[in-house]
Amino acid sequence: MALLRLEDVTKRFGGLIAVDQVSLTIDRGEFVGIVGPNGSGKTTLFNVISGVFYPDAGRVFFNGADITRMPSYKRAPLGIGRTFQIPRPFSSATVRENVAVGAMFGSQGRHLNVEKSLAFADEVIDRIGLSKHREKSAGVLTPVEKKLMEIGRALAMRPKLLLMDEAMAGMHPSDIDHMVAFLITVAKEEGIAIVAMVEHIMRAVVNMAETVIVLDHGEKIVDAPTNEALNDPRVVDVYLGKAHGEAHAEY
Ligand SMILES: Nc1ncnc2c1ncn2[C@@H]1O[C@H](COP(=O)(O)OP(=O)(O)OP(=O)(O)O)[C@@H](O)[C@H]1O
Ligand SMILES: [Mg+2]
Repeated sequence: MALLRLEDVTKRFGGLIAVDQVSLTIDRGEFVGIVGPNGSGKTTLFNVISGVFYPDAGRVFFNGADITRMPSYKRAPLGIGRTFQIPRPFSSATVRENVAVGAMFGSQGRHLNVEKSLAFADEVIDRIGLSKHREKSAGVLTPVEKKLMEIGRALAMRPKLLLMDEAMAGMHPSDIDHMVAFLITVAKEEGIAIVAMVEHIMRAVVNMAETVIVLDHGEKIVDAPTNEALNDPRVVDVYLGKAHGEAHAEY
């Protein structure tokens, strides 16, 4: 049984079809890269999977259970974690407290008191390399450090599925490589499926994803093993122009 299954999911905003009859499956421990031009529906798809929006049509299954209309606060404890395209830290709280919030509201939330959540946050912070910022308030972090903290907060949820919306955008390529290697290790060790939005960072797709899903105008146009997907003429079409040039420049 797939970890996540979408059946003909459609999400509209007024007359605009942001996600158009998308079906897909994600297996446990799988790495999937989601690519697509601006406005192609990547974030909306994440929002439908995490329960920020309910789809207008279609169904979402997690571990075989229909969660199409389950509120997002009930999905996190099931093991659906995410990062946000625009990080939303509690700015006046410390890095440690921010990451601990992930632990409290994640899949082991019921079993963790504040003290244990903070201790678990410390472990995660060490693993993501933010130890020296532990006691700083999140508001003073650089944008890249905020992204790292987001990843830490999501990992502290002990998710089974981790949705990463541009979590590595703006990072130096060597830091991306480092982060990707780290995520692969964590994902394999803990059996976490990762679906990462990796637009403009094609090198990250190549390094990390087993599967690439390409969205265009809300439709899924490609869903294939990475090498096959990157050689697909439809992917080249979608990336013709600026993004295509960038994709090559970054190899
Ligand atoms: N809350 C919303 N209300 C109205 N329209 C929205 C909303 N969220 C997204 N849209 C529209 O839906 C479409 C898909 O947007 P979405 O943010 O999912 O794309 P994206 O692939 O994540 O883009 P980007 O690469 O810029 O992050 C766009 O046309 C966008 O303007
Ligand atoms: Mg987006």
